[in-house]
Amino acid sequence: MNTTQTIRDEILKLKKEHDVCILAHAYQSQDIWEVADYVGDSYGLSLQAAKTGQQTVLLCGVRFMAETVKILSPEKKVLLSHPQAGCPMAQQISVAELAALKETYPDYTVAAYINTTSELKTLCDVCVTSSSAVKIIQNIENDHILFIPDCNLGGWIARQVPEKIIRPVAGGCPAHAAMHADQVRQMKSLFPEAKLLVHPECKAEVTELADYVGSTTGIMEYAKNSSAKSFIIGTENSIVEHLQFACPDKRFYPLSKDCICSNMKLTTLMDVWHCLHGTGGEEITLSEQVMKQARRCIDTMLTLG
Ligand code: 13P
Ligand code: SF4
Repeated sequence: MNTTQTIRDEILKLKKEHDVCILAHAYQSQDIWEVADYVGDSYGLSLQAAKTGQQTVLLCGVRFMAETVKILSPEKKVLLSHPQAGCPMAQQISVAELAALKETYPDYTVAAYINTTSELKTLCDVCVTSSSAVKIIQNIENDHILFIPDCNLGGWIARQVPEKIIRPVAGGCPAHAAMHADQVRQMKSLFPEAKLLVHPECKAEVTELADYVGSTTGIMEYAKNSSAKSFIIGTENSIVEHLQFACPDKRFYPLSKDCICSNMKLTTLMDVWHCLHGTGGEEITLSEQVMKQARRCIDTMLTLG
């Protein structure tokens, strides 16, 4: 009978035989972390994608992440771990809507959260991720910025960079935007000593109460390096599990039991197994033109970040 151990061993053997690099986003499950060559936040994954040596990259995460890998390494075969794994935020604004906004605000630089489709990126000037956003926005010469599509992240950046006029447009992450200040007060009353660490995709009423606001990797580093012993985590709940693994002497509690990204949760260890057997996943294909035009704003992100 197959066990996690036998499947894991087969994956490790196959990825070596077929020269495959497995990149996993931090929201993937612990068993996937353990077979990955690199685990990180969106910015770390982009950096890694640009320098990996293998000819095939398997991205365990959501579609825009696999598209970013393909754009940075067009000569490579790039697989998305599960064909249905998309980020709902990536499509909250259409190409036509963005084109219309650019006509309304011709003097604005368009900054896109990396959680956008490749087609949208072709119309943008620069991409940002949660860990690189503040630095990149500070480094843009223009002080008028149109920010798509996460209004919570856009608002948070605007509060960190008050010298710029930042106009956030469109939407937000359904999982993060559902958390609110009452949950913070309730959790703080249960665990008064605990530090509150949250992702900038949360509403302002949540980030304003936090001890630390940052990317998935940033939250993990803060918790590992902190002398505090307990933490309330305001991001996808897989991070609670990973932190508990990494720091058994500390305690971690989810700010909300419901902060679960159903798209990130789609990929299982058996999906990875199927990808390596050629019976699963989806190979990412993008037109030359989309890759060329979308690459400009990703390259600008890597330069300014
Ligand atoms: P990070 O860039 O912090 O990994 O976030 C990606 C994401 O989708 C958060 O919801
Ligand atoms: Fe998209 Fe939110 Fe899931 Fe991140 S957590 S991938 S922003 S839906």
